[in-house]
Amino acid sequence: MIADPSGSLAADAVPARTQVLIIGGGPAGLLLSQLLHRAGVDNVVLERRSRAYVLSRIRAGVLEQGTVDLLRQAGVGARMDRKGLLHGGVEISFRERRLRIDLAGLTGGRSVMVYGQTEVTADLYAARDAMGGTILHEVEDVALHDLESASPFATFTLGGETQRINCDFIAGCDGFHGVSRRSIPEDRLKLFELVYPFGWLGILADVPPVSDELIYASHEKGFALCSMRSPTRSRYYIQCPLDEEPGNWSDDRFWEALAAHLPADVAARLVTGPSIEKSIAPLRSFVAEPMRHGRLFLAGDAAHIVPPTGAKGLNLAASDVHYLSQGLIAHYAAGDDLALERYSDRALARVWKAERFSWWMTSTLHSFPDAGEFGARMQQAEFDYLATSRTAQAAFAENYVGLPY
Ligand code: FAD
Ligand code: DHB
Repeated sequence: MIADPSGSLAADAVPARTQVLIIGGGPAGLLLSQLLHRAGVDNVVLERRSRAYVLSRIRAGVLEQGTVDLLRQAGVGARMDRKGLLHGGVEISFRERRLRIDLAGLTGGRSVMVYGQTEVTADLYAARDAMGGTILHEVEDVALHDLESASPFATFTLGGETQRINCDFIAGCDGFHGVSRRSIPEDRLKLFELVYPFGWLGILADVPPVSDELIYASHEKGFALCSMRSPTRSRYYIQCPLDEEPGNWSDDRFWEALAAHLPADVAARLVTGPSIEKSIAPLRSFVAEPMRHGRLFLAGDAAHIVPPTGAKGLNLAASDVHYLSQGLIAHYAAGDDLALERYSDRALARVWKAERFSWWMTSTLHSFPDAGEFGARMQQAEFDYLATSRTAQAAFAENYVGLPY
């Protein structure tokens, strides 16, 4: 039920009621909407931004095997299977030492798919449109009500008019800064947070990637990541101070700094060119427990944040949505609420393991201003162990391709 190509829906087309009201039209909200609709569960998505804005955000790039399988199951895997790049290995470098982790060989053939979050989101919007899904863009002042009752509802403004939608359940998929988590009384949530003393400066450029596989590089100057979107489009990141501004970074300054963060033979192969996008993201670990309050269920960044080093943020949003869709579908198909009751515990068990892996990769590969010489030796010992132990490499690979659902 999309009125025009911008994705806007006329205010008079707002339904009075739906079964599941989804707050947030990012990957978590759209994937949940798609899985529920395919199972016959009626739902509406409320998104604060325009569709063009959502589709212009450059974010994650690596999909775990489980995310790939879930996208196929949701009927949105065709373009990903044509355009995505299957990676059976990943490289980690430490100063001038380089190590390839054979993901496929160490995990019985599992791998990751390099396919941008922007593309995943575009595929999900196309699928929602094709099925006549209801997505309301540019909604403002969303407020959630009666969450502990059997008939919660949301109010919001759309095109200047106040609206209300009644529902059975609300899915809070509105990211870290959304309204859903903040609608839960403070004394019902326990928050865990670690803020890192640096960020990542990222650049997107139409130049061939420096390597066929991703390179996570640790250097005295700081961390760098060489990633890609296609054989002709590269995505690179370098560690930067928290108070940096993208405007202070000319393309030349970025390429020079990137080369200085990489092993010499990799730097020598680097192809540079004009950037398409440049942005800075701070690094944070964050978990809110539990992921449910009455009839409100949190999923994705609304409930947890990982530092991007393990490529887990988008993948955790997908595994949450897997558990939550199963619970909601069982409720409507069989009147069975067991999976909904268990949702928070099941999701959090997987979330904490991804938090651990992301924290470990971040701690091992970045320069920490206050780590001292002991901290530096610990990082070196971590790399030495990984480089010399097949068991350590298998544990790395198992986590990187994604733990089972
Ligand atoms: P989001 O993608 O944040 O989507 C939430 C949606 O809710 C948004 O569209 C937002 O506009 C909407 N919304 C917010 N508030 C409201 C409201 N009040 N009402 C209605 N709608 C609302 N992960 C990686 O693995 N690798 C990366 O390189 C990486 N880079 C990132 C860079 C940045 C700048 C950010 C912010 C995240 C990055 N991530 C990365 C994390 C990854 O992108 C997220 O984990 C993923 O987007 C989570 O999806 P989500 O749907 O839960 O949340
Ligand atoms: C990308 C981002 C990550 O955080 C990561 O760990 C791997 C790849 C990317 O944007 O391509």
